[in-house]
Amino acid sequence: MRISHVQNNNYNNRTSRPSFGIWTRAVYKSSEKSLVEPIYRNDTMFFRDPVFWERFTNLLVQKFNEQSNVNVYCYGCSDGSEPYTFAMKVLAKGKDFAQKFLPVQARDIDSIAICRALDSEYELTNDEIFRIENVLDDKYELINDKLITTKNTQNHSLRKYFDYHEYKREYLSYGDKLNVKVKEPLKNSVQFSMGDIFEDYENINPENTVVLARNFWPYIDDISKRSKFFKDLYDHLKEGSLFVIGNFDTKEFPMHINSVKEEVQKAGFKETVVENVFEKR
Ligand SMILES: C[S@@+](CC[C@H](N)C(=O)[O-])C[C@H]1O[C@@H](n2cnc3c(N)ncnc32)[C@H](O)[C@@H]1O
Repeated sequence: MRISHVQNNNYNNRTSRPSFGIWTRAVYKSSEKSLVEPIYRNDTMFFRDPVFWERFTNLLVQKFNEQSNVNVYCYGCSDGSEPYTFAMKVLAKGKDFAQKFLPVQARDIDSIAICRALDSEYELTNDEIFRIENVLDDKYELINDKLITTKNTQNHSLRKYFDYHEYKREYLSYGDKLNVKVKEPLKNSVQFSMGDIFEDYENINPENTVVLARNFWPYIDDISKRSKFFKDLYDHLKEGSLFVIGNFDTKEFPMHINSVKEEVQKAGFKETVVENVFEKR
């Protein structure tokens, strides 16, 4: 096994798009330098795909309006940025709304990722800070699939959910990162453990369930294993449950022999009004 160095750079040095680079680490099957694709990468960030999070939370509000409890699982959670993003999004809708979705059960196959998640210490980029302070604090509204500034509310979410040095925040220059530590009530909103989705899915509570499994399907190069899993998960879940994949999963890569989206739909899931969010009907 070969594990690449943690890289704190922007994705392909492109600075025009949000950085993928808070924690970029690749794990390869072979220790030799070869052209083989990594088994997986841990790339992740807070509020990856902010438009998705806005649309997805709006869907949850409508869909689970009547339910008092919703079971949320986040597989491939990496260092925890994704499940904490989910928790912040539902907490922003109010404590009563949030409590039925929390705690999120967050799992990853990688023990190092889970150790980092349990530490819950992050180096936030300016992009992430901007999103936490603006998108969460409702300054933005989703209009024609774009996040537009509509209100001039106070920034409070960063302080609410993270501990950090105020002085460092104030004098953070572009390109610098802010060391933060997740605090309550956010910390309690996610429970981390190791888990391989292919084996662990049978432990999922099948009713009123949301399964996030975003941005790692292209690393599973055994297409028949992948397709069988989607079918098994479909059979396991009860009607009304949601299965969510990521933007990266639907991109065209050479390693995509079949499209992941097609495989998910072939298993029986129907896409909802939110792209990459599927429902068992
Ligand atoms: C590229 S990261 C994506 C992280 C996060 N879901 C996001 O969208 O930002 C992929 C993560 O999936 C994990 N992973 C890969 N195969 C897995 C499996 N079979 N079960 C659970 N986690 C897996 C990897 O360890 C890695 O942390």
